[in-house]
Amino acid sequence: MSKQRSSTSTTDPGDFGHNDSCNPTFAEVLASRMDRRTLFKGGFYLMVASVFGSALAGCGENKQPSKAALAPAAKTPPPVPASGLALSFKPVAKSVADVLSVPEGYTATVLLATGDPLKAGVSAYKNDGTDNDFEVRAGDHHDGMFYFGLNAAGTGWDASNAQRGLLCLNHEVAEDLGFMHPAGATDLGTGNVNARPVLEIDKEVAAHGVSIVEIARSGNGYQTSLTNPLNRRITAATVMELSGVAAGSELMKTAFSKDGLQTRGTLNNCSNGYTPWGTYLTCEENWAEYFHRREADSARTPQELVAFKRYGMKGDTSGRYNWSRPGASDSTDLYRRWNAGITGATATDDFRNVANTFGWVVEIDPFNPQATPKKRTALGRFAHEGCVPAKAEAGKPLVFYMGDDSRNEYIYKFVTDAKWDAADANGGLAAGDKYLNAGKLYAARFNADGSGEWLPLTLDNTAVAQYDKYAFADTADVAIHTRLAADAVGATKMDRPEWAAVNPLNGEVYITLTNNVSEKNGRGVAMPLDAANQRYYVDEKDGKRVAGNVNGHIIRWREAGDDHAATRFQWDVYLFGAPAEAGADINLSGLTADNDFSGPDGLWFSQSTPGLLWVQTDDAYYTDVTNCMMLAAIPGVVGDGNTVQVVNKAVPTHDNADQAIGCPVGSKPQATALRRFLVGPKDCEITGITETPDGKALLVNIQHPGERSSESWASDGNITSHWPDGGNARPRSATVVITRNDGGKVGV
Ligand code: FEO
Ligand code: CA
Ligand code: CA
Repeated sequence: MSKQRSSTSTTDPGDFGHNDSCNPTFAEVLASRMDRRTLFKGGFYLMVASVFGSALAGCGENKQPSKAALAPAAKTPPPVPASGLALSFKPVAKSVADVLSVPEGYTATVLLATGDPLKAGVSAYKNDGTDNDFEVRAGDHHDGMFYFGLNAAGTGWDASNAQRGLLCLNHEVAEDLGFMHPAGATDLGTGNVNARPVLEIDKEVAAHGVSIVEIARSGNGYQTSLTNPLNRRITAATVMELSGVAAGSELMKTAFSKDGLQTRGTLNNCSNGYTPWGTYLTCEENWAEYFHRREADSARTPQELVAFKRYGMKGDTSGRYNWSRPGASDSTDLYRRWNAGITGATATDDFRNVANTFGWVVEIDPFNPQATPKKRTALGRFAHEGCVPAKAEAGKPLVFYMGDDSRNEYIYKFVTDAKWDAADANGGLAAGDKYLNAGKLYAARFNADGSGEWLPLTLDNTAVAQYDKYAFADTADVAIHTRLAADAVGATKMDRPEWAAVNPLNGEVYITLTNNVSEKNGRGVAMPLDAANQRYYVDEKDGKRVAGNVNGHIIRWREAGDDHAATRFQWDVYLFGAPAEAGADINLSGLTADNDFSGPDGLWFSQSTPGLLWVQTDDAYYTDVTNCMMLAAIPGVVGDGNTVQVVNKAVPTHDNADQAIGCPVGSKPQATALRRFLVGPKDCEITGITETPDGKALLVNIQHPGERSSESWASDGNITSHWPDGGNARPRSATVVITRNDGGKVGV
C-alpha cells in the first residue's frame, strides 16, 4: 500500500489505527532525544532485563492469558527442513537510483504495466491521460498475484504447465497523483467538497480490482497473449454476490440489493490467495476510506457508531477519492453508492449499509468469465491483506491464514467445516460454496512464553456473546464486525499484520509485521510492548523523528501436532528489520549491508523450490538509504534460537524508563541464508509475487514508482521516477518477469 498520499494525506492508509479497545491511557508521552545518528553511534547503554511482565497492565480481565495459556506448550524437537538449498546469486547493493536492479546473471523484463492492453485490438497505452478504457487494460497499483497454469486447450487449470498460464493480479488503488488523467486528478482528497468530474471517477473505479490475462513463454521470458477469451477485468463496479453467514443480513441491504445478496465492486485489492480448487482470492484492505458519511453522528445508533469508529468510517466529508460527488445532485447511484450516510427513508432506499459489503475476501473463478465473483463472508471483515492456504490434505479441513493490516490489529485463521476431497479440484465457485461458506474463524493470541492460542470468534464463545462494548445481534453481525469480536476475546494487537506464507517443508506459518509507528497509538508510545511486538526505538529521516517499531519484523509459528486446525501453537520471531549499522538491540537479526531491510510486507514461499522464502518491502523509514527491495531467504525452524531480552530505551508506555522484553527469537540468519535479490526504482513498493511451476521465472510487481512526485507535477514537471518507460514518461506500476540467463531455477 502506498505510504505517501500527496494530494490527500501523508500517511499510509494501512497506517491508520482504529483499535483503542482496552488500551491503557498515558497522560504524557515524552519525546525521546535519540535519533538515528545517535543510535548508530552506539550511544546507548546496556541494561539488565528486569521489568518484563508489565506490558499488559491496564487491560481488562478477559485480556489476561489463562493459566493454561501460560503453561509451556509441549515441546517437541523442531525438525530441521532438509531443503539442502543454498542461495546462488551475488547480493544486490542498496540503491536510491531510478532503476530496477537484479543480480548478475539475471534479466528482468516488464510484462504488464498499468494501461497495457488485455484484449486484442486495444491500442497501446499512450500514458498521457487520454486513454479512458481501463475495462480492457491493466489497472493501477499492481499488488498480489498468482499464476494458474493453463491446460492444452487454454480453457482450464493445469497446475504444472509453465509454458502458458493465466496471471491473476490485483490493482490496489488508482494513483492519487492522477497520472491516468491528462493533468492530474481534479478535486481529489479528504475534506474536498467539490464534485469531481465523472470521467475521472469512472476511470479510477475501473483501474481498481483484478486483471486476468494469459501469459505464454517466449524465449527465456513471457509475454501476454491477448486473444484468450478468459482475459478480463474485474473492477470496483463489477457485480458481486455476497455469500456465507452474512449474506442477506439486514446489515447488507442497500438500494442496489434489497435482499442483501449482492453489491457492486471490489476495492483496494491488496494481497491475495488461491484455493486448491483453482480459484483466485483477492482481498479488500483499506476500503473504509472510499466512503463518505456526510451526516451528523447523531443520525446513527450508538451501536452503529461503535462499529464505524472501530473500522475508521468517519462521519465527515472525508473520503480519499471523493467518488460520491459531494455538492452534485447525486441522483445517479453509481456515485451515490459511495455515500454511506442516511439519505433515504429506509436502508433499501439508500446506501447506509454499503460499507458492510466491503472488507471481505473475494473468490473469483479465473476460468469462468460468466461466474459472478463471491465475497466470502465467513472469513470475516477487516482490512484484509491476504488469504493464504495451508497445504490441502485429504480428509482434513482446509485452513487459510490472514492478516488485518492496520496498527494494533490481529492475525486470523479460517478453518473449513468441510474436509478436503481431491475430487473437488477444478470445482470452481461451487467448491468455494462447499468450503468457504461454513467454518470457524479464529484470532491469534501470542503468549509471552512462546506458546499461542487460536481464539474462536463465535457466539458460542461467551467472551463474544457477552461483550460489553458491542452487542452482537447474530452470527452475521459477528462476521461483519470481526474486529470487535476479536477485541472481545483478547487477541494480541500486532504491529500491522501483512502477508502470510506457509513453508511447504514443514507447515510453519510466517507473517510480516510491517511497522508500528505513531505518536497517537503506536507501539511503545501508546500501545504497550509485548513479547510478540517487542521493539520501541527512535529513528530520524529527513529531519523527521519517528518512534515505535520502525523497521518491522516477521513472526512465525508451528501449529500443535502439525495440525493446521489446532487451537494451540508455538511461535518465535524469524527476522527483525533494521539498518545494518543500527545497534545490536535494534538489529537483533545481525543484518549486514548485503541483507538489511525495513518494512517487510510481501512474503511468499516458493512451491517449486521448497524452503525458499521471498521477502518484499514497503518501507517509509529507510528510503533515504535505499529504495524498496526483495530478499531471498532460507529460514530454519521455529525454536531454533533462544529467548532473548530485547532492550528498549525510554519507552513511553513504561513511564519513559528503559524496558527489556523477553522474546523467543529464531537463530540469526547467516549471510548465505538471507540476501538482497532486487532493488526497485525510486519511490516504489515491491509487492506481489508468483512463479511459474518450474521455478524458472519469478513474477514480481513494482507498485507506484514515483509516489513522492509533486502534487502539481503536471505544471512543475517534478516527477521522481520515470520507470519503466524512461525519458520523461509518467511512471507506471508493472509486473516484471525475472529469469536466469542460463535458464536455471531462480534464487538457488
Ligand atoms: Fe496493501 Fe497492507 O498493504
Ligand atoms: Ca504495506
Ligand atoms: Ca501490503
